[in-house]
Amino acid sequence: MKFSQASNVLLLAGLANSCLLPEERAGGHIRRSLNRRQGNNGKAIGKGDRFNGGSSFPRGIGSGNATDMSTILNVNEVTTGLQGLVNAYGIQTFVTPYKTYEGRTITGAKIGGSGTANTNYHVYLNGAIHARERGSHDSVLYFISDLLYAQKHGTGLTYGKKSYTNADVTKALSTGIVVTPLINPDGVNYDQTSNSCWRKNRNPKSSSSGDPDTIGVDLNRNFDFAWDLKKWASSVASEVASTDPSSEVFHGTAAFSEPETQAVKYILDTYTKVRWFIDLHSYAGDVLYSWGSDTDQSTQPYKNFLNSTYDSIRGITSDSTSSKYGEYISSEDLNNVQTAGNRFGNVMSTAAGRKYTVMQSAYLYPTSGASDDYAFSRHIADPTKNKVYSYTIEFGFGNNQASCPFYPTAAQYTSSLQETNAGFMEFLLAAADIGLE
Ligand SMILES: *[C@@H]1O[C@H](CO)[C@@H](O)[C@H](O)[C@H]1NC(C)=O
Ligand SMILES: *[C@@H]1O[C@H](CO)[C@@H](O)[C@H](O)[C@H]1NC(C)=O
Ligand SMILES: [Zn+2]
Repeated sequence: MKFSQASNVLLLAGLANSCLLPEERAGGHIRRSLNRRQGNNGKAIGKGDRFNGGSSFPRGIGSGNATDMSTILNVNEVTTGLQGLVNAYGIQTFVTPYKTYEGRTITGAKIGGSGTANTNYHVYLNGAIHARERGSHDSVLYFISDLLYAQKHGTGLTYGKKSYTNADVTKALSTGIVVTPLINPDGVNYDQTSNSCWRKNRNPKSSSSGDPDTIGVDLNRNFDFAWDLKKWASSVASEVASTDPSSEVFHGTAAFSEPETQAVKYILDTYTKVRWFIDLHSYAGDVLYSWGSDTDQSTQPYKNFLNSTYDSIRGITSDSTSSKYGEYISSEDLNNVQTAGNRFGNVMSTAAGRKYTVMQSAYLYPTSGASDDYAFSRHIADPTKNKVYSYTIEFGFGNNQASCPFYPTAAQYTSSLQETNAGFMEFLLAAADIGLE
């Protein structure tokens, strides 16, 4: 990246919030106070089971006559909603082989593709890795519900100002899609029942103090990508993740120490031909593409996350001159992630009128152990693995009315659904156009 562009985006990054509040950056020793955090919590959480154990099925916002969306989906409703889709459309679901700390399972579903072999699936959508980012699992579940409804009834889909034809639906489904709408069920359950603005999972094992406010691992710092903070310049090491269990960005006791991140790895290991990946977060209005570690560069392949020569300067995005460190991505790969990212970012901006910024992840702030970097790094760390073009989406607005800005109002919930679902649709079409193999 040219310096002017980098400094421009850095300025932007200073204003954006993404999934960390300003006081949670740089180690983020923020303890949650339920008293402080309670108040106006935005749109309410569903109390019962609107899918009656799967005897009725979810229908998204794009197919005309959606499910009752007066409340946010609770954790159980993600499971019963998927069961409803099984009953209505005969899709296949699966459970990842790792139980969470509180004993929950993580359910995934696969739809579309040209057959049921694992190698037919080329896209993976993951939701709700950060518990408080409300609307994430709803977006993923309702989106696949829309695709299935439109396929069965021969209709198109409309998200705000953006419409798609039935031929678009057919093409989108042809990519073969694996989803885990809710990868962090313990965290989401806790957040929904406490309104505590909870971000992490609920694993207490690495917190020796036993203080209930200090438990949990930031799952999006727990993936095996430059996880060890020794791989980072000392000036950024305390910001890319934290070794302190009380931090909002505590990265766990080892890469993949957590069942939730192991579940993501399991999916990428099982569906070996996945080429495109989105991890869905809130909030900022950003589409972020690889890399999240340092400035992208396409001329010096030996400058990469594996090379310990650069451990002392990795993560300083302002040193973009060629003599310093930038993370290698081939010009073809960079072109592909930018082309698709711009395409679906523009559509997200069109759907409901909220502007999305498409930029490299590292310009928000450099991160260690994030899911998108891990997914794209797999083919470099192990050339037998498939290349996975990867994104983090930060949908939505901060809710200024609420004590936790991640909790959407009713209007924000609806516009975010329109934006993410139109974005997913365009992402699938772009993936089909650029290539699935
Ligand atoms: C919408 O759904 C409701 C409840 O399932 C049903 O009663 C109604 O007839 C539907 N309307 C249309 C236009 O499909
Ligand atoms: C790591 O970087 C050094 C310094 O540029 C280079 O000499 C070396 O070949 C690189 N190692 C790998 C494995 O690419
Ligand atoms: Zn997040």
